[in-house]
Amino acid sequence: MHDLTSSTLDAARLNEALGSWTSAYDLRWLPACGSTNSVLMELPQPALAAPATVLLADVQTAGRGRRGRAWLSQPGAGLTFSVRRSFDTPSLAGLAGLSLVVGLAVAEALEGLGVAKIGLKWPNDVEADGRKLGGVLVELGSTRDAVWAVIGIGINLALPAALLAEIDAPATDLASLLGSAPPREAVLAAVLVELAPRLAEFEHKGFAPFTGPWQRRNVHGGREVRILDGPQVLQEGLCLGVASDGALLLQDASGVHAVIAGDVSLRAAGA
Ligand code: ATP
Ligand code: BTN
Repeated sequence: MHDLTSSTLDAARLNEALGSWTSAYDLRWLPACGSTNSVLMELPQPALAAPATVLLADVQTAGRGRRGRAWLSQPGAGLTFSVRRSFDTPSLAGLAGLSLVVGLAVAEALEGLGVAKIGLKWPNDVEADGRKLGGVLVELGSTRDAVWAVIGIGINLALPAALLAEIDAPATDLASLLGSAPPREAVLAAVLVELAPRLAEFEHKGFAPFTGPWQRRNVHGGREVRILDGPQVLQEGLCLGVASDGALLLQDASGVHAVIAGDVSLRAAGA
């Protein structure tokens, strides 16, 4: 991992956009790696500078989504980075809801850059115009003394047609939504600025304060949905929103059920 002096990023532009939040992050860069999440997950805990380490890669050769799915990108097409941060919490269970909080921060950041309306799809998708603009992959680690999260974020800047055609679901990018893609330094800084205070609030108060803001962006709120485990339908019902721990609330004939993110997927009924 290199510091920013050797990177292809404009470090001055990035630091200016980060303003006082610069001190919240130790910023690192790699020209290429398999997955920024994997690199940060494998770092030995004591090697980390506080409070959070950010790793941006110009290109990932094995970018990952959930359940072993691929996150596709290529140089210039997307922003791919991860943030590793320790959390003062007694157990990993306290971090349920983290990917939703991160989604909110990404949504606020992208709207701040001019995107009209960002929607969130439980638990980890960032959407605009019903298409996937970005994704969040949270992975957790712990030792006897520490609990940490690696928060991976992928945001499409300008997808070439050939790459768009490879993605097996509707996708979009900032270039299509804004007319041209903002510099990646601006997108990275905007997300990091929104993220730092939300992570601090989440650490102290949990997901509860974020329930309302998340609900307002819920693309499936008030709609019939199904919960899948691979091809298998686990549950069907009306999407009521999210609970104070980030679980999805579904109503069916037998009552209201809480669905924990785990490895399940949410789809519109009939999709
Ligand atoms: P889930 O509802 O379970 O989150 P998902 O289809 O969103 O399902 P994820 O694991 O969250 O799955 O994300 C990976 C998926 O995202 C890939 O299977 C692919 O369909 C899509 N994808 C991959 N690269 C991109 C990209 N650059 N932009 C948009 N979508 C992408
Ligand atoms: C998803 O939608 O399933 C999550 C996609 C997350 C992609 C980002 S790109 C940076 C980080 N490194 C990875 O391998 N994945 C995340």
